[in-house]
Amino acid sequence: MANEQKNNANQVIKLVIEVIGFLLYSLALIIVAVYKTCLPSAYQYRKNITGDIALVTGGGGGLGRLLALRLAKLGATVVLWDVNVKGVEETVGLVKGIGGKAYGYKCDLSDKEDVYRVAKKTQQEVGDVTILLNNAGVVSGQSLLDTPDILIKRTFDVNVIAHFWTVKAFLPKMIEKDHGHIVTIASLAGHLGVNKLVDYCSSKYAAVGFDEALKAELDAQGVKGVKTTVICPYFIQQTGMFDNVNSKFFPKLKANDVADKTIEALRKEYNVVILPGYLRWLLPLKLIMPWSVVSNFLNNMLPDASPHHQPTPIVQIEESEESLPHKIVNSVSASVSQTKPSLDKQGKDL
Ligand SMILES: NC(=O)c1ccc[n+]([C@@H]2O[C@H](COP(=O)([O-])OP(=O)(O)OC[C@H]3O[C@@H](n4cnc5c(N)ncnc54)[C@H](O)[C@@H]3O)[C@@H](O)[C@H]2O)c1
Ligand SMILES: *[C@@H]1O[C@H](CO)[C@@H](O)[C@H](O)[C@H]1NC(C)=O
Repeated sequence: MANEQKNNANQVIKLVIEVIGFLLYSLALIIVAVYKTCLPSAYQYRKNITGDIALVTGGGGGLGRLLALRLAKLGATVVLWDVNVKGVEETVGLVKGIGGKAYGYKCDLSDKEDVYRVAKKTQQEVGDVTILLNNAGVVSGQSLLDTPDILIKRTFDVNVIAHFWTVKAFLPKMIEKDHGHIVTIASLAGHLGVNKLVDYCSSKYAAVGFDEALKAELDAQGVKGVKTTVICPYFIQQTGMFDNVNSKFFPKLKANDVADKTIEALRKEYNVVILPGYLRWLLPLKLIMPWSVVSNFLNNMLPDASPHHQPTPIVQIEESEESLPHKIVNSVSASVSQTKPSLDKQGKDL
């Protein structure tokens, strides 16, 4: 009896010591992190990406193009994937124009086989991708019951499922070399659900979860040289995606600023980036406040988050045309034809 009590007491003491040790270690990690962020910018660590091969999905326009130009300026070889062949050609031209190295490929990220096929081609023709930026994204922008099934599925296919295929294609070599970085361009919509973006928000929540779980997995496996970063921007001006959305309390971000912050996060190996940065402190309120407060705030801030009030056009390419009901393909692409450049119907690999 006395022995058992002694054993229990020992166990409690052991647990207390463990918890204290854990807290002290956490405190030390916090101090190191605060010290690192408080260092003057010139003294902060930035990785050298000269010689890296950086793949930007959705590099045919918008944020992807701005990222490509910055990566090339820093000496990385840039690979661009997009369904928009004209857009990719333009980006390749722009990168070469500033003296950079660029390769463009047509790839439909919503098609797993196409992703694996183009990944193999990229590896053979350019080399091992060491920086992967999963940037391509689409939005339907209609209330849930008005969103055709095919658009809901496409939103998930492009915004998150494709990340599984690209990461499975390129992570093995990164682990082998103990050198690599996977950047997920998610959204603030991956932390906040809003009206008319049910499919978009849930796909971005999934992308945020993808980054976090992968980060945890690489940590648990003791992989030190492969980093992951998730970027969660608020609405961006003039990339085409959310141009017509009015935002009341917070100004929309400038695409160039988002690109600069993304590259900074890549080079400084940040884990999670919320843009604008101060929203990091407001987001936790969501879990603390009553839903009525959150809902009132959201409805005031974003009465209508629908972009153009029309979905991102479905790009007409031979392979996927058959799998899409023609009515939707035609009506969607016809309704946006004035706002988007026409897309090459029979684009081949560039
Ligand atoms: N624009 C915003 O307000 C905003 C805000 C937060 C997050 N984001 C995210 O940033 C990323 C970039 O967005 P953007 O604003 O540059 O949009 P964008 O529409 O200008 O660019 C997206 C690119 O992805 C390509 N793409 C679409 N479907 C594809 C597919 N199936 N296969 C290959 N490529 C495909 C498009 O052709 C386009 O070039 C997206 O993931 C988006 O969700 C955008
Ligand atoms: C980055 O690395 C390359 C070689 O890999 C080297 O030539 C270059 O000087 C480095 N740049 C900086 C700023 O350290």
